[in-house]
Amino acid sequence: MKVKIIGAGSIGNHLAQASRRMGWNVVVVDTDPAALRRMREEIYPVRYGAWDSTITLVTPDKVKKGSFDMIMIGTPPHVRMKLALEALKEAPKILQLEKPLTMPFDPDLRRFIATYREQKKTKVVLGYDHALGKPIARVARLLKKKVIGEVLTLDVEFREHWQGIFKAHPWLSGPEDTYLGFWKKGGGASGEHSHALHLFQYLAKEAGLGSWTKLASALKVEKKGKAEYDSIAAFTIELSSGKLGRVVQDVVMLPTRKWLRVQGTSGFVEWLANGHPTGDIVRFSKNGGPVREEVFAKKRPDDFYEEMLHIQDILDKKIKASDSPISFESGLAVMEVLETAWKNPNQSFLPIRKI
Ligand SMILES: NC(=O)c1ccc[n+]([C@@H]2O[C@H](COP(=O)([O-])OP(=O)(O)OC[C@H]3O[C@@H](n4cnc5c(N)ncnc54)[C@H](O)[C@@H]3O)[C@@H](O)[C@H]2O)c1
Repeated sequence: MKVKIIGAGSIGNHLAQASRRMGWNVVVVDTDPAALRRMREEIYPVRYGAWDSTITLVTPDKVKKGSFDMIMIGTPPHVRMKLALEALKEAPKILQLEKPLTMPFDPDLRRFIATYREQKKTKVVLGYDHALGKPIARVARLLKKKVIGEVLTLDVEFREHWQGIFKAHPWLSGPEDTYLGFWKKGGGASGEHSHALHLFQYLAKEAGLGSWTKLASALKVEKKGKAEYDSIAAFTIELSSGKLGRVVQDVVMLPTRKWLRVQGTSGFVEWLANGHPTGDIVRFSKNGGPVREEVFAKKRPDDFYEEMLHIQDILDKKIKASDSPISFESGLAVMEVLETAWKNPNQSFLPIRKI
């Protein structure tokens, strides 16, 4: 299995290490030679203990096109679609696009969709890895088995001060230096923490609540120097079943809270990322009975390994890419919510009338 990873940044390192755990042959491409050096000398050895000298690091002019089974695009969102269109021409078996799929209102997304539907050789998946981990798989199973009865509502939060991201990128002085500080490039809370929107739609589907149909959004927009981004994004979502739920994403909360709760007619299910010193917690109660708590020991790199195992299952035809929790369609649906929100920010929030 030959893999090309475009982007030698934070996610490029995770994807490379997870691919190596699979025993795959890895080439990492970056336009910035400093990023390639940083990967070899700093990020990879510090995160995973040692550099893996089987990984090839190259600038784009040095890589032969068309010889890869899988291409993964771990660049900032606003440059992803142009690279994705190029990648489709190489016809890999799998094209993995990091999240969010792209920036809001990207004209190249429309071209990509048309080209992808015509091309038919490549399966596209998104980098929404949280949907593939064992804790969320457990939540999904409980919902599918209707352990908590009929689901009434669903809440998902990804609330994380972005100091963690900047600690992982010490060469950046702040949001203005990167796409993160620009919602128009796919940054800000709504784009960066769109894992929450993605989990919401995935679990709503698993719970039998249907797909999302209506949205009220509130985006707290910050303008700092050239930067313009949403620090808090709150979404109230109506589903085709008529049920209502909520997603909150922010880049201000400290300590971090990545959490979800599903309320049913006869119980609840809750997930708390890093809720235990060894990993995540899933709690649930049925029929008013005692709360059961399950701990899923894992570290962040394990999430990307799970993602690669899942991709291997798609390659082995054990799972259809279009049925996968990280299907292209699931990433596109998140973009539809982001575009709806940015087109009419805060439009459905009316002032409260004085009595
Ligand atoms: N799935 C996850 O959990 C997860 C985790 C972290 C980041 N991400 C996503 O991955 C993307 C990148 O984030 P990051 O933190 O790794 O960013 P980063 O800035 O650390 O790395 C991005 C790299 O892409 C390179 N690049 C830019 N344009 C390029 C081009 N045309 N060709 C080749 N390389 C190019 C840059 O030089 C840089 O080294 C974002 O969309 C982010 O949201 C996903």
